[in-house]
Amino acid sequence: MQTPSPSAADRPLRPETLAKAPAIVAQYPQKRSATMPLLHLVQEDRGHITKDDMHWVAEQVGVTPMQVLEVVTFYPMFRQSPIGRRHVRVCRTLSCALRGSYALMEGLEKSLNCPRGETSPDGDFTLEFVECIADCGCGPVVHVDGAMHENVEPAQAEAFAAKLKATLKDPDYGRRAPQPGTPEWNG
Ligand code: FES
Repeated sequence: MQTPSPSAADRPLRPETLAKAPAIVAQYPQKRSATMPLLHLVQEDRGHITKDDMHWVAEQVGVTPMQVLEVVTFYPMFRQSPIGRRHVRVCRTLSCALRGSYALMEGLEKSLNCPRGETSPDGDFTLEFVECIADCGCGPVVHVDGAMHENVEPAQAEAFAAKLKATLKDPDYGRRAPQPGTPEWNG
């Protein structure tokens, strides 16, 4: 019988992550200044940050785990729960908001069965509002994993969600380079 592989939350940090930490800490005159870079490193490894990870970061930089938790909870880019198979980020800053990003978000919440700021119960989608992602002329813009999708109008929410659901069954998802002229080209 095969032993199930540990989930991202249960497994230890990868050896390469652990190996990078001393060099990162050494870049700063005060060790605690490396707190955020180390948290980014952990999140890159696991997709989110666990309590054990916070203890590990605290040991590396010489602060208490509570001080690390304060940083994690202050900055919205740090996550304490696992991310969905598709990470969907909708820009809500002025240009995109004026072009309907709030209505688009409502449509995506319904179509993906995922409230904003959360991961869907099936673990397929994490849906978040983000601030400007530097593509203001083409709003509303939606960033999905590595790709930017431009001019996603609220009326297209359902069709866009269907396209995202279809990617869950695509074995080549994320492996094809974006093509000029497609909405993903700028991603
Ligand atoms: S306002 Fe949405 S990308 Fe800048």
